[in-house]
Amino acid sequence: FNVPTPINEPVKGYAPNSPERVELLKTLKELKQQQRDIPMHIGGQEIRTGKKQNITPPHDHQYVLGQFHEGDASHVAQAIDAALAARPLWAEMPWEHRAAIFLKAADLLAGPYRARINAATMLGQSKNCFQAEIDAACELIDFFRFNVHFMQQIYQQQPESLPGMWNRLEHRPLEGFVFALTPFNFTSIAANLPASVAMMGNVVVWKPANTQIYSAQVLMELFKEAGVPDGVINLVYVDGPTAGNVIFKHRDFAGIHFTGSTGVFQHIWKTIGENISNYKSYPRIVGETGGKDFILAHPSAHAKAVAVGMSRGAFEYQGQKCSAASRVYLPSNLADEILGYVKEDLASFRMGDVEDFSNFINAVIDEKSFDKLAKYIDGAKADPNAEIVAGGGYDKSKGYFIEPTVIVTKDPKYVTMCEELFGPVLTVHIYDADKFDEVLELVDTTSPYALTGAIFSQDRYAIDHASKKLVHAAGNFYINDKPTGAVVGQQPFGGARASGTNDKAGSMLNLLRWVSPRAIKETF
Ligand code: NAD
Ligand code: ALA
Repeated sequence: FNVPTPINEPVKGYAPNSPERVELLKTLKELKQQQRDIPMHIGGQEIRTGKKQNITPPHDHQYVLGQFHEGDASHVAQAIDAALAARPLWAEMPWEHRAAIFLKAADLLAGPYRARINAATMLGQSKNCFQAEIDAACELIDFFRFNVHFMQQIYQQQPESLPGMWNRLEHRPLEGFVFALTPFNFTSIAANLPASVAMMGNVVVWKPANTQIYSAQVLMELFKEAGVPDGVINLVYVDGPTAGNVIFKHRDFAGIHFTGSTGVFQHIWKTIGENISNYKSYPRIVGETGGKDFILAHPSAHAKAVAVGMSRGAFEYQGQKCSAASRVYLPSNLADEILGYVKEDLASFRMGDVEDFSNFINAVIDEKSFDKLAKYIDGAKADPNAEIVAGGGYDKSKGYFIEPTVIVTKDPKYVTMCEELFGPVLTVHIYDADKFDEVLELVDTTSPYALTGAIFSQDRYAIDHASKKLVHAAGNFYINDKPTGAVVGQQPFGGARASGTNDKAGSMLNLLRWVSPRAIKETF
């Protein structure tokens, strides 16, 4: 079985009256009328506890889309048992059969599931249709197809054998179960964390963020229809610490595939450390975490290109991409011109719900995030070190809406230059155009994170110099482009320092974390 050579899924345009737009609008309407009752999935069974929580769109928080059934510690224990029961058959299954399941999942997503996953992501996570399309449809299809391709390479790579000898590598799944703990902001990441682990023959307990359950349900239906056997991926809705308390104490805990905030990941790492002598094997700890992603403009930069990089790179999906620019360094010779273009761009961005496709900005994910962002904006309004030059408004009466906001500060260590805000707030520091080396030092040392970063320059020496000075400042580094929108198979994604273990989602490096190879030597 030679798996097809993957190509990136083409992005659909959703032009007015196009077939894809007509279908998506119909699906949005149907989903809104359904009032879905959303169970957990353990060992192939739908589990309804009766303890229901409402799911509401962030842009219309009084509208109830449905309810999910919340579980407790006993459901986490059941999910582990179901995973371990499914393990022997799944781990023994030839890789080609596992590959076929995930190739089918990709085809289903490219076809009959596309409108449903996009609509669920739009309603549940307040993502506009274009952002949903590049995430829930294209990026996820790419994850499935490219990972299957990398998986084939892993299984087929074998050591040399000499005459009279047969050397081989057996890429065994991990001995136990893996915990997939996933964030709200990318449907593709939420699906890829359990799927990439399962693909390599492992069994999984998956806990999504509550604010992503609406689309997680569609993903679970997709896995089932594609042929993932019962018990291989078990989906539970339990609060994080309760789930962690059962999982990290379990002897068969074999690894965690996490994407989320740095604080949660560090807490989890410590907990695993405290329990380390209880486990059968050292668990694999793979985590992609927070960021404070930068744009740095050199005095030679093309002003308009920097402005587009800022307005797109900072405000797509309301700045809630882990890759979103949130701190910018502009040279004094270009700052006014660049900020002028940015203000023009922002004035053209419409804000509102996701069903009007002309809205570029939708709501932030929940009230907690809204209140946190509003506090930072109020802080900037009251602080003589900061000036709000665009936006600054917010309103949560109907949905959690925050205007795209640009703060300019003289202080390069101003609080919003340093902390992860995770929303549509961008902070700009204007530096003396003669002091490029000083600003490189600031970019490198201002935050503990190292996820994405971009430099804009027309000067090849400056590009080379900055790339070397900022060698550890970003796991994904962009030159003359915005720092968002990494494409599977083209720019493997992940950060280092406080941004994660840099095991590059959608790459062979990541898949290798989910196997425990056995080297075998046989003599004749
Ligand atoms: P989060 O850390 O709040 O939640 C992630 C998951 O952990 C959720 O399922 C949550 O319920 C669970 N959780 C929370 N506290 C827990 C605890 N004490 N024990 C066990 N589980 C717990 O993150 P989020 O708000 O969903 O996502 C946003 C964050 O994710 C941002 O910090 C962003 O930078 C990061 N992110 C990073 C990447 C990357 O590739 N580096 C990608 C996407 C998101
Ligand atoms: N692929 C996503 C981005 O780069 C994570 O924005």
